[in-house]
Amino acid sequence: MSSIFMPDAASQQAVRTDQIYFVLLAFSGLIVLLVAALILVFSIRYRRGSKAKRGALPKVMSREFEIGWTSATLFLALFIFWWVSSTHLSALAAPKNALEIHVVAKQWMWKTQHSNGAREINELHVPLDTPVRLVMTSEDVIHSFFVPAFRMKKDVLPGRYTETWFRATKPGVFHLFCAEYCGSEHSRMTGRIVVVQKEAYARWLAAQPEDDGLAKTGATVFRARGCSGCHSEASRVHAPDLNGLYGRKVQLADGRTVTADEAYLRDSMLMPRRDVVAGFEPIMPSYAGILTDGEIISLTAYIRSLSGREGNSQ
Ligand code: CUA
Repeated sequence: MSSIFMPDAASQQAVRTDQIYFVLLAFSGLIVLLVAALILVFSIRYRRGSKAKRGALPKVMSREFEIGWTSATLFLALFIFWWVSSTHLSALAAPKNALEIHVVAKQWMWKTQHSNGAREINELHVPLDTPVRLVMTSEDVIHSFFVPAFRMKKDVLPGRYTETWFRATKPGVFHLFCAEYCGSEHSRMTGRIVVVQKEAYARWLAAQPEDDGLAKTGATVFRARGCSGCHSEASRVHAPDLNGLYGRKVQLADGRTVTADEAYLRDSMLMPRRDVVAGFEPIMPSYAGILTDGEIISLTAYIRSLSGREGNSQ
Protein backbone atom coordinates (compact mmCIF):
# COMPACT_ATOMS: atom_id res chain seq x y z
CA MET A 1 0.00 0.00 0.00
CA SER A 2 2.77 2.35 -0.93
CA SER A 3 1.47 5.73 -2.02
CA ILE A 4 2.03 9.41 -1.65
CA PHE A 5 0.38 9.13 1.77
CA MET A 6 2.47 6.35 3.24
CA PRO A 7 5.94 4.82 3.04
CA ASP A 8 6.22 1.28 1.66
CA ALA A 9 4.39 -1.32 3.72
CA ALA A 10 7.00 -4.04 3.92
CA SER A 11 5.97 -6.16 6.89
CA GLN A 12 2.95 -8.10 8.02
CA GLN A 13 2.38 -5.60 10.81
CA ALA A 14 2.66 -2.66 8.39
CA VAL A 15 -0.17 -3.97 6.23
CA ARG A 16 -2.43 -4.53 9.24
CA THR A 17 -1.58 -1.11 10.71
CA ASP A 18 -2.37 0.59 7.41
CA GLN A 19 -5.71 -1.21 7.14
CA ILE A 20 -6.70 0.14 10.54
CA TYR A 21 -5.45 3.59 9.61
CA PHE A 22 -7.34 3.80 6.31
CA VAL A 23 -10.57 2.27 7.59
CA LEU A 24 -10.66 4.65 10.59
CA LEU A 25 -9.74 7.57 8.33
CA ALA A 26 -12.52 6.72 5.86
CA PHE A 27 -15.00 6.23 8.68
CA SER A 28 -14.10 9.58 10.31
CA GLY A 29 -14.26 11.22 6.86
CA LEU A 30 -17.79 9.90 6.35
CA ILE A 31 -18.93 11.34 9.67
CA VAL A 32 -17.32 14.72 8.87
CA LEU A 33 -19.07 14.74 5.48
CA LEU A 34 -22.40 13.83 7.04
CA VAL A 35 -22.17 16.60 9.64
CA ALA A 36 -21.02 19.16 7.06
CA ALA A 37 -23.86 18.20 4.69
CA LEU A 38 -26.44 18.55 7.47
CA ILE A 39 -25.07 21.96 8.45
CA LEU A 40 -25.29 23.05 4.83
CA VAL A 41 -28.82 21.71 4.30
CA PHE A 42 -30.17 23.19 7.53
CA SER A 43 -28.51 26.57 7.08
CA ILE A 44 -30.07 26.93 3.63
CA ARG A 45 -33.45 25.47 4.49
CA TYR A 46 -33.88 27.44 7.71
CA ARG A 47 -32.18 30.64 6.62
CA ARG A 48 -33.77 33.89 7.73
CA GLY A 49 -36.95 34.63 5.83
CA SER A 50 -37.39 31.13 4.37
CA LYS A 51 -40.84 29.60 4.19
CA ALA A 52 -39.79 26.39 6.02
CA LYS A 53 -42.13 25.27 8.78
CA ARG A 54 -40.77 26.06 12.23
CA GLY A 55 -41.94 25.45 15.77
CA ALA A 56 -43.10 21.99 16.90
CA LEU A 57 -40.45 19.24 16.56
CA PRO A 58 -41.47 16.19 14.51
CA LYS A 59 -41.75 12.99 16.62
CA VAL A 60 -38.89 10.95 15.14
CA MET A 61 -37.12 10.04 18.38
CA SER A 62 -38.83 6.84 19.45
CA ARG A 63 -37.52 4.76 22.32
CA GLU A 64 -36.52 1.92 19.95
CA PHE A 65 -34.60 4.34 17.78
CA GLU A 66 -32.67 5.65 20.81
CA ILE A 67 -31.77 2.17 22.04
CA GLY A 68 -30.89 1.11 18.50
CA TRP A 69 -28.42 3.82 17.65
CA THR A 70 -26.87 3.84 21.14
CA SER A 71 -26.12 0.12 21.08
CA ALA A 72 -24.99 0.23 17.45
CA THR A 73 -22.46 2.93 18.37
CA LEU A 74 -21.37 0.97 21.43
CA PHE A 75 -20.77 -2.22 19.44
CA LEU A 76 -18.93 -0.31 16.75
CA ALA A 77 -16.61 1.21 19.38
CA LEU A 78 -16.08 -2.22 20.96
CA PHE A 79 -15.27 -3.70 17.55
CA ILE A 80 -12.69 -0.97 16.87
CA PHE A 81 -11.19 -1.55 20.32
CA TRP A 82 -10.92 -5.29 19.70
CA TRP A 83 -9.50 -4.82 16.21
CA VAL A 84 -6.81 -2.31 17.19
CA SER A 85 -5.80 -3.97 20.46
CA SER A 86 -5.56 -7.47 18.96
CA THR A 87 -3.35 -6.08 16.20
CA HIS A 88 -1.11 -4.32 18.69
CA LEU A 89 -0.96 -7.29 21.06
CA SER A 90 0.15 -9.58 18.25
CA ALA A 91 3.08 -7.19 17.73
CA LEU A 92 4.29 -7.73 21.30
CA ALA A 93 5.13 -11.43 21.52
CA ALA A 94 7.31 -12.98 18.83
CA PRO A 95 6.48 -16.48 17.54
CA LYS A 96 8.52 -19.23 19.21
CA ASN A 97 10.47 -20.07 16.04
CA ALA A 98 11.55 -16.47 15.44
CA LEU A 99 15.10 -15.77 14.34
CA GLU A 100 16.81 -13.89 17.14
CA ILE A 101 18.99 -10.85 16.57
CA HIS A 102 20.64 -8.67 19.19
CA VAL A 103 20.69 -4.90 18.80
CA VAL A 104 22.90 -2.61 20.86
CA ALA A 105 22.39 1.13 20.45
CA LYS A 106 24.98 3.71 21.40
CA GLN A 107 25.67 7.35 20.64
CA TRP A 108 25.40 7.30 17.67
CA MET A 109 25.17 3.99 15.95
CA TRP A 110 23.28 0.71 15.76
CA LYS A 111 25.25 -2.46 16.39
CA THR A 112 23.52 -5.68 15.41
CA GLN A 113 24.60 -9.24 16.01
CA HIS A 114 23.26 -12.45 14.49
CA SER A 115 22.88 -15.79 16.25
CA ASN A 116 26.12 -17.15 14.81
CA GLY A 117 28.01 -14.11 16.08
CA ALA A 118 28.16 -12.18 12.78
CA ARG A 119 28.09 -8.44 13.44
CA GLU A 120 26.95 -5.42 11.48
CA ILE A 121 27.00 -1.70 12.11
CA ASN A 122 24.12 0.55 11.01
CA GLU A 123 22.89 -2.31 8.90
CA LEU A 124 20.80 -5.38 9.44
CA HIS A 125 20.35 -8.23 6.98
CA VAL A 126 17.22 -10.28 7.53
CA PRO A 127 15.51 -13.07 5.58
CA LEU A 128 12.23 -12.49 3.80
CA ASP A 129 9.00 -13.87 5.25
CA THR A 130 10.63 -15.05 8.47
CA PRO A 131 9.72 -13.84 11.95
CA VAL A 132 12.67 -11.92 13.37
CA ARG A 133 12.85 -11.16 17.08
CA LEU A 134 14.99 -8.22 18.15
CA VAL A 135 16.44 -8.16 21.65
CA MET A 136 17.67 -4.63 22.21
CA THR A 137 19.61 -2.64 24.75
CA SER A 138 21.54 0.62 24.90
CA GLU A 139 25.06 1.37 26.08
CA ASP A 140 24.33 4.94 27.08
CA VAL A 141 21.06 6.85 26.73
CA ILE A 142 17.56 6.08 25.47
CA HIS A 143 17.27 5.50 21.74
CA SER A 144 14.37 4.22 19.68
CA PHE A 145 14.49 1.65 16.89
CA PHE A 146 12.19 2.95 14.15
CA VAL A 147 11.55 1.30 10.79
CA PRO A 148 8.76 3.22 9.02
CA ALA A 149 8.29 0.58 6.31
CA PHE A 150 7.57 -1.98 9.04
CA ARG A 151 5.43 0.49 11.06
CA MET A 152 7.64 -0.55 13.95
CA LYS A 153 9.09 1.62 16.70
CA LYS A 154 10.46 0.46 20.02
CA ASP A 155 12.45 2.28 22.67
CA VAL A 156 15.95 0.98 23.37
CA LEU A 157 16.92 1.56 26.99
CA PRO A 158 20.18 1.46 28.93
CA GLY A 159 20.21 -1.16 31.67
CA ARG A 160 17.40 -3.33 30.36
CA TYR A 161 16.24 -5.33 27.38
CA THR A 162 13.33 -4.44 25.18
CA GLU A 163 11.94 -6.72 22.50
CA THR A 164 10.05 -6.39 19.30
CA TRP A 165 9.59 -8.52 16.21
CA PHE A 166 8.60 -8.33 12.58
CA ARG A 167 8.05 -10.47 9.51
CA ALA A 168 9.29 -8.71 6.39
CA THR A 169 7.05 -9.28 3.38
CA LYS A 170 9.01 -7.44 0.68
CA PRO A 171 12.65 -7.75 -0.35
CA GLY A 172 14.52 -4.46 -0.47
CA VAL A 173 16.38 -1.90 1.56
CA PHE A 174 14.48 0.07 4.19
CA HIS A 175 15.32 3.03 6.39
CA LEU A 176 16.17 2.61 10.05
CA PHE A 177 15.96 5.72 12.21
CA CYS A 178 16.58 6.60 15.82
CA ALA A 179 13.30 8.09 16.99
CA GLU A 180 14.34 9.35 20.42
CA TYR A 181 16.45 12.48 20.77
CA CYS A 182 19.77 11.18 22.05
CA GLY A 183 22.35 13.92 21.56
CA SER A 184 23.97 16.11 18.95
CA GLU A 185 24.25 13.38 16.28
CA HIS A 186 20.77 11.95 16.84
CA SER A 187 19.64 12.89 13.33
CA ARG A 188 22.52 10.92 11.84
CA MET A 189 21.82 7.78 13.84
CA THR A 190 20.35 5.99 10.86
CA GLY A 191 20.80 2.64 9.21
CA ARG A 192 19.45 0.21 6.66
CA ILE A 193 17.40 -2.94 6.97
CA VAL A 194 18.27 -5.23 4.07
CA VAL A 195 15.59 -7.81 3.40
CA VAL A 196 16.74 -10.68 1.17
CA GLN A 197 15.44 -14.13 0.19
CA LYS A 198 15.99 -16.87 2.76
CA GLU A 199 18.68 -18.63 0.70
CA ALA A 200 20.48 -15.33 0.10
CA TYR A 201 20.42 -14.64 3.84
CA ALA A 202 21.93 -18.06 4.59
CA ARG A 203 24.65 -17.40 1.99
CA TRP A 204 25.27 -13.91 3.38
CA LEU A 205 25.51 -15.23 6.94
CA ALA A 206 27.93 -17.98 5.91
CA ALA A 207 30.12 -15.44 4.10
CA GLN A 208 30.59 -13.28 7.20
CA PRO A 209 34.00 -13.27 8.89
CA GLU A 210 34.55 -16.25 11.17
CA ASP A 211 33.22 -15.69 14.65
CA ASP A 212 33.04 -18.29 17.37
CA GLY A 213 29.38 -17.62 17.88
CA LEU A 214 27.82 -15.83 20.81
CA ALA A 215 27.63 -18.86 23.09
CA LYS A 216 31.31 -19.71 22.60
CA THR A 217 32.36 -16.13 23.23
CA GLY A 218 30.15 -16.26 26.32
CA ALA A 219 31.92 -19.39 27.56
CA THR A 220 35.25 -17.55 27.30
CA VAL A 221 33.85 -14.52 29.15
CA PHE A 222 32.42 -16.92 31.74
CA ARG A 223 35.93 -18.10 32.61
CA ALA A 224 37.73 -14.79 32.05
CA ARG A 225 35.42 -12.85 34.35
CA GLY A 226 35.60 -15.50 37.05
CA CYS A 227 31.93 -16.64 36.87
CA SER A 228 33.13 -20.23 36.66
CA GLY A 229 34.83 -19.80 40.05
CA CYS A 230 31.46 -20.19 41.77
CA HIS A 231 29.02 -21.43 39.09
CA SER A 232 30.67 -24.77 38.40
CA GLU A 233 30.48 -28.27 39.82
CA ALA A 234 34.11 -28.13 40.89
CA SER A 235 33.48 -25.03 43.00
CA ARG A 236 33.05 -25.32 46.74
CA VAL A 237 30.95 -22.15 46.79
CA HIS A 238 27.23 -22.86 46.98
CA ALA A 239 25.98 -21.04 43.85
CA PRO A 240 22.92 -21.68 41.65
CA ASP A 241 23.40 -24.28 38.92
CA LEU A 242 23.18 -22.66 35.50
CA ASN A 243 22.58 -25.89 33.58
CA GLY A 244 19.01 -25.92 32.28
CA LEU A 245 18.31 -22.60 34.02
CA TYR A 246 17.20 -20.59 30.98
CA GLY A 247 13.45 -20.50 30.50
CA ARG A 248 12.76 -22.18 33.87
CA LYS A 249 10.74 -20.73 36.74
CA VAL A 250 12.98 -19.63 39.61
CA GLN A 251 11.85 -19.38 43.23
CA LEU A 252 13.37 -16.32 44.90
CA ALA A 253 14.23 -15.89 48.57
CA ASP A 254 11.56 -13.21 49.02
CA GLY A 255 8.83 -15.54 47.79
CA ARG A 256 8.49 -14.26 44.24
CA THR A 257 8.72 -16.58 41.27
CA VAL A 258 10.33 -15.33 38.07
CA THR A 259 11.11 -16.84 34.69
CA ALA A 260 14.81 -17.02 33.88
CA ASP A 261 14.71 -15.03 30.65
CA GLU A 262 17.19 -12.55 29.17
CA ALA A 263 16.02 -9.74 31.43
CA TYR A 264 16.32 -11.88 34.57
CA LEU A 265 19.80 -13.12 33.65
CA ARG A 266 20.94 -9.58 32.99
CA ASP A 267 19.53 -8.33 36.30
CA SER A 268 21.19 -11.24 38.12
CA MET A 269 24.58 -10.17 36.79
CA LEU A 270 24.09 -6.46 37.49
CA MET A 271 21.89 -6.56 40.60
CA PRO A 272 22.45 -9.99 42.15
CA ARG A 273 21.35 -8.90 45.63
CA ARG A 274 17.89 -7.94 44.42
CA ASP A 275 16.77 -11.31 43.09
CA VAL A 276 18.45 -13.79 45.45
CA VAL A 277 17.46 -17.36 44.60
CA ALA A 278 15.72 -19.23 47.43
CA GLY A 279 18.15 -21.38 49.41
CA PHE A 280 21.25 -19.37 48.53
CA GLU A 281 23.30 -16.77 50.41
CA PRO A 282 23.43 -13.27 48.86
CA ILE A 283 27.17 -13.42 48.25
CA MET A 284 27.45 -12.67 44.52
CA PRO A 285 28.93 -9.22 43.84
CA SER A 286 27.40 -6.91 41.26
CA TYR A 287 29.03 -6.91 37.84
CA ALA A 288 27.62 -3.52 36.90
CA GLY A 289 30.41 -1.45 35.36
CA ILE A 290 32.53 -4.58 34.94
CA LEU A 291 30.72 -6.46 32.20
CA THR A 292 30.13 -4.67 28.91
CA ASP A 293 26.78 -5.06 27.14
CA GLY A 294 28.46 -7.25 24.56
CA GLU A 295 29.75 -9.53 27.34
CA ILE A 296 26.33 -9.71 28.97
CA ILE A 297 24.77 -10.68 25.65
CA SER A 298 27.34 -13.40 25.04
CA LEU A 299 27.09 -14.66 28.65
CA THR A 300 23.30 -14.84 28.23
CA ALA A 301 23.77 -16.80 25.00
CA TYR A 302 26.16 -19.15 26.82
CA ILE A 303 23.72 -19.72 29.69
CA ARG A 304 20.97 -20.36 27.13
CA SER A 305 23.18 -22.88 25.37
CA LEU A 306 23.45 -24.77 28.68
CA SER A 307 19.72 -25.37 28.32
CA GLY A 308 20.05 -26.51 24.72
CA ARG A 309 18.64 -23.23 23.48
CA GLU A 310 21.28 -21.91 21.11
CA GLY A 311 19.09 -19.30 19.51
CA ASN A 312 18.07 -20.63 16.12
CA SER A 313 20.05 -19.83 13.04
CA GLN A 314 18.90 -20.38 9.49
CU1 CUA B 1 19.81 7.50 19.16
CU2 CUA B 1 18.42 9.39 18.75
